[in-house]
Amino acid sequence: MFVPPKNADAELWDGPRTGVQGVKEFFNADEAYDNSRFPVFLREALKAENVFIDPPKNMPTLLEDKQIISLIETGKKMSAIKPLSTLIQELRVVKSDAEIDIMKRSGHISAKAFIEAMKWTQPGYTEAQLWAKLDYECRMRGSSILAYVPVVAGGPNALSMHYVRNDMKLRDGDLVLVDCGGEYNYYASDITRTWPVNGKFTEPQRELYQAVLNVNRACIELCTVKQNISLHGIHAASVKLMKQELQKIGFSTTAWDLERVLYPHHVGHYLGLDVHDVHSLSRSRKLRKNMVITIEPGIYVPFDDRFPRKYQGIGIRIEDNVVIGDTTPYVLTATAPKEIVDIEYCCANN
Ligand code: GLY
Ligand code: MN
Ligand code: MN
Repeated sequence: MFVPPKNADAELWDGPRTGVQGVKEFFNADEAYDNSRFPVFLREALKAENVFIDPPKNMPTLLEDKQIISLIETGKKMSAIKPLSTLIQELRVVKSDAEIDIMKRSGHISAKAFIEAMKWTQPGYTEAQLWAKLDYECRMRGSSILAYVPVVAGGPNALSMHYVRNDMKLRDGDLVLVDCGGEYNYYASDITRTWPVNGKFTEPQRELYQAVLNVNRACIELCTVKQNISLHGIHAASVKLMKQELQKIGFSTTAWDLERVLYPHHVGHYLGLDVHDVHSLSRSRKLRKNMVITIEPGIYVPFDDRFPRKYQGIGIRIEDNVVIGDTTPYVLTATAPKEIVDIEYCCANN
């Protein structure tokens, strides 16, 4: 490891540094050096037959030195330079038992924050206040930070997939869609729940919610090695299931409307140190034991009379984090209420 050396002047202003000795002691580095020695080390390292390194634009500040970049580009045949991140992603995609333990804690903390947020929600509060509530409840349980800017979308704001303004009032009779998760020991959780601002689903909200919930539950059942399935495979199943669920409640949609308008996103992604973890690994890979993925079907009905009027303006997503098991999935976010009866109970008990 190459690290900034101890320096009393710099530490007076910026706080303590671990230093060269410290990284051996605390981070178990086999070898550690003052980072000013890095260019010399790199020049030597570039003589190796193969050099694994990420493209300069992704390299840390230390390497954004023009001299070093040109050294890499000219001093080495490009064929000998191989990307590092693909190897790292391979190591990251299947989690160790220790990582799963951390992710259990991460999911549990965020799930508890959702319970507190549901109990607390009422008409007149703002999306920003609900955001603050979730942030507070996550941090108070040990999260260091929220893993991403959350979506806190009252009523039709939920129709914008990336709504992060989170600055409007929550209205009586609307649902609120919240996509939020805390980070614990650097591992993200990524939960979405949708609940009634006043604590009670209207009939159309209930029908549409149950449709999405049925798809969420059926897809979670597919999260096993035994199913021999990929994320794309689960997505295809989710589209089929969603079509059936929507037909039951009076939609007659084309495949285009279903996949481009009503349910325009993927059912899930890998999860871990990043929210969209190991993002360059294909979602066509067969799921293996101890991979962690999200399952997040959603429905967003625009104000358009191609769709039943009573559902227009409603957006619902239900997102869980799931560890792939041999024959049974393990849901990291199971303690965040999602059955209608549990949500209404939670909302009524503040
Ligand atoms: N929160 C980002 C996602 O659900 O993918
Ligand atoms: Mn999410
Ligand atoms: Mn997600």
